[in-house]
Amino acid sequence: MNILILGSGGREHALAWAVKQNPKCDRLIVAPGNAGIAQLAECAAINPENATEVIEFANENAIDFVIIGPEAPLALGVSDALRDAGFLVFGPSQAAAQLEASKSFTKEICDAAKAPTAAYAHFKNKDAALAYVHEQGAPIVIKADGLAAGKGVVVAMELKDATDAIEDMFGGAFGGAGAEVVIEEFMDGEEASYFVLCDGKNLLPVGTAQDHKRVGDGDTGPNTGGMGAYSPAPILTDDIAQKTLDEIVQPTIDEMARRGTPYQGVLYVGLMIKDGQPRLVEYNARFGDPETQVLMLRLGAQALDVLLATAEGRLDTAKVNWADDHAITVVMAAKGYPGSYAKGSVISKLETLNSDSFNMCFHAGTIEKDGHICANGGRVLNVTARGSSLAEARARAYAAINQIDWADGFYRTDIGWRAL
Ligand code: AMP
Ligand code: GLY
Repeated sequence: MNILILGSGGREHALAWAVKQNPKCDRLIVAPGNAGIAQLAECAAINPENATEVIEFANENAIDFVIIGPEAPLALGVSDALRDAGFLVFGPSQAAAQLEASKSFTKEICDAAKAPTAAYAHFKNKDAALAYVHEQGAPIVIKADGLAAGKGVVVAMELKDATDAIEDMFGGAFGGAGAEVVIEEFMDGEEASYFVLCDGKNLLPVGTAQDHKRVGDGDTGPNTGGMGAYSPAPILTDDIAQKTLDEIVQPTIDEMARRGTPYQGVLYVGLMIKDGQPRLVEYNARFGDPETQVLMLRLGAQALDVLLATAEGRLDTAKVNWADDHAITVVMAAKGYPGSYAKGSVISKLETLNSDSFNMCFHAGTIEKDGHICANGGRVLNVTARGSSLAEARARAYAAINQIDWADGFYRTDIGWRAL
C-alpha cells in the first residue's frame, strides 16, 4: 500500500514509525513531516489543511490510505473531501470532529447519551455568563466553545479569575473560538486519557495514558501541550476502563450514528476519575501528542492493521495483542517554552541513540540544516522507551536523554512520578 500521513509532529513521527514496520506498507509519505520523519519516510511539502492540494498529491502518488494526524484538517473537513474523492481515510468527518471542535456540541451529545460529565451552561452573551458565575461561585471552569489551540480553558479557583476569563473571551482574546462560552462545574479527581478506535459503530481500545501538562517538575509552572506521558495509566483500572466504554464512549458513538454523523477515527477520551467513577472532561478527535508516542511504541506494526480496520468499518473483528509492557516519553523542549524561545540551535549525538522496539527518539519540531539536526519548535524531541516495568522504561528514556547534546533544551526530570 501507498500510505500518506498528514502532520509534522512527534505524533506523526510515532505513527509513521509504527506504520512503516508493517509489511502492508510499501511506500510511506508524511506531509509535511520533519527532520526525524525524513529518516524513515518521504516528506512532501504540502499543506495538510488544504484539501485540494492533498487530493491532487494523493492522486499523483496513487495513495491507498490517508491517516490524518492533527485536529485542524479534521475541523476543516479534509477527511470528507478525501472520501468524496474516493480515498480510504482514517479520521472523522467535519461533522463528527465537532466532538473536539465545539465544547457545547460535546455537552449536548453527553446530555443525549447520558454520559457522566461536569454540569454546564452555554452562553452567547457576556452579561448572562457573568450573572451565572456570580450565582454559582468558584471554583468554576470557563471554556471558549471553539478550537483555541489548547488555551481556551480557564480553571478558575477564584471568582475574579472566572469573570476575567469571561471578559477576555467575549472581548475576542480567542477570536471566533470565544464568541460562545461554556461554563462548567469544577471536577476534582485524577486525570487520565483513554484512546478508543471507532468505526462508526464498533469500538476498539488502543491504550490508556497520562500526560504531564505543566512545564516544571512537581507539576509546577504554566500549562503546555504536554511535557511527557506514559502508558498504561494505572488509575484507569480494567473496571474504570469498562465503565468508561459502557457509560461514556459507546453511548456517544451510538448518539453520533443516530444523528447521521457516525464517528470514524480515534476518540481521545479525557477523563476525571474520582472514587472509582470516570467523568468526561473532553473529547479530542485525534490521537494525543505526546501520548501517541507511547501508544505506538507499545502497538508497533499492528497499529496499521487496526487503523485500516477502523477506516474499513471492521473493528468488530479486529484485536490488539498486548505485551505486558510499559512505555514512557519525555519531551525535550526549547528553553523558554511555553513562552518565547529561539529556533535553530544544533542538537547533536542523536545518532548515538538506540533506535529499536524499546527505544525511539521521535522528533516533534526539528529541521535539517547543513547536515545538522536543529530545533525548530517549542517541543522538539520526544525521547521514548519501553520496558517490562515503568521504572525500566523510564531509566532507558532518561539514559537516552543524557546522551543527547543540546545546550538550548530542557526537560522534566519526573515524568511518571504519579505511577511510580
Ligand atoms: P479541556 O481542553 O477541556 O481538556 O481542558 C483542559 C484542562 O482543563 C483539562 O485537562 C483539565 O485539567 C482542566 N479541566 C477542564 N474541564 C474541567 C472541569 N470541569 N473540572 C476540572 N478541571 C477541568
Ligand atoms: N497531550 C494533549 C493533547 O494531545 O491534547
